[in-house]
Amino acid sequence: MSNVHLIDHPLVQHKLTLMRRKESSTNSFRRLLNELSMLMAYEVTRDMAMQDVEIDTPLEHMTARMIDGKKLVFVSILRAGTGILDGMLSVVPGARVGHIGLYRDPKTLTAVEYYFKMPQGMQERDVVVVDPMLATGNSAIAAVERLKELKPKSIKFVCLLTCPEGITALQKAHPDVPIYTAAIDRQLNDHGYILPGLGDAGDRIFGTK
Ligand code: URA
Repeated sequence: MSNVHLIDHPLVQHKLTLMRRKESSTNSFRRLLNELSMLMAYEVTRDMAMQDVEIDTPLEHMTARMIDGKKLVFVSILRAGTGILDGMLSVVPGARVGHIGLYRDPKTLTAVEYYFKMPQGMQERDVVVVDPMLATGNSAIAAVERLKELKPKSIKFVCLLTCPEGITALQKAHPDVPIYTAAIDRQLNDHGYILPGLGDAGDRIFGTK
């Protein structure tokens, strides 16, 4: 699948397996998601533009490298995106944060927007949209559509888990948006859940079920 980056690092896969287990507590699920998100942040920022800067070490002057351009924006799709956001911010603490509130209509599974707040200067920023589960793709498609109205420099999508249906839907709607994921599971069920998956990510992060 083009434009899909499967993050198959052993640490990522190990932590994901621990998260999938139904007996994992809310506490360990959240902690693992946090750790996993740091590792995914490392992959998703791999191609960030760099610039040369002149610095002095205690011993010498040197030309060193730093990340170029305006601060990155992590856009969290509420509410489960928050679980990934926290981990990513611990690796990129200067990043800006946007939020999109979308809920899935339980009958149609379509995405309905109830909140949208982004930082200033989006035209000069790279955006990383985060949501643990790319399932039907409806929320991701709606979020990217909305973000494109603000004309950011680039958009990437990061999830923990996806399935062929979600990838196909997002790529059909937004072929220019690369997808970063730790796993591509077998399929969606009739309720829009990923199989074998890990259940409802929001409920598992926040302990609401
Ligand atoms: N959202 C979830 O939380 N889990 C799924 O399996 C699909 C969508």
